[in-house]
Amino acid sequence: MSAPPFVLSPENVARAEAIVAKYPDGRQASAVMPLLDIAQRQGGGWLTQAAMDYVADYLKMPPIRVYEVASFYTMFNLKPVGRHHVQVCTNLPCWLRGSDVVAETCRRALGIGFGETTDDGQFTLSEVECLGACVNAPMIQIGDDYYEDLDSVTTRAVLSVLKQGGKPKVGSQMGRRSCEPKGGLTSLRETAPMAGKK
Ligand code: FES
Repeated sequence: MSAPPFVLSPENVARAEAIVAKYPDGRQASAVMPLLDIAQRQGGGWLTQAAMDYVADYLKMPPIRVYEVASFYTMFNLKPVGRHHVQVCTNLPCWLRGSDVVAETCRRALGIGFGETTDDGQFTLSEVECLGACVNAPMIQIGDDYYEDLDSVTTRAVLSVLKQGGKPKVGSQMGRRSCEPKGGLTSLRETAPMAGKK
């Protein structure tokens, strides 16, 4: 049986055209990642081979070049994922700050291991490399959102809210704003004498 065909929707073709237009003539292959992302979102969170072939054809690239990109980055899923894709960063800064505990809490709370999906299709658990939020390590990405400064209690709380159909607060789970120090400023605490003067 052949795989179902894949075609971008008219809205997504417009998005793809706007992205490709940012690159010089002959360099449209540079748009491969955003186009795979668009195709993945349209496809319900994962990429079929037909979707990758469509992107290759759209960008006039050899399909193998697209497969290489899609199989290298964990942001692309080559098989179906659950409604909530929980990606646990276990790279060095997160590991030093307790990602082992976060990963184990996810396994216990969801009853699945890395690379698995719950029977009800609600959660997929994945192990990923650095997601660029080391400053608030350890962290997990769920869907498009980051949950940071985690421990076992806050990890369980985030998953619990999702299980109940809610929307957890994103960002730092220890209450600090962005990546500012939790105890307030540690430097530049005094106003410079000439501040505001011409
Ligand atoms: S190491 Fe986890 S976000 Fe960078």
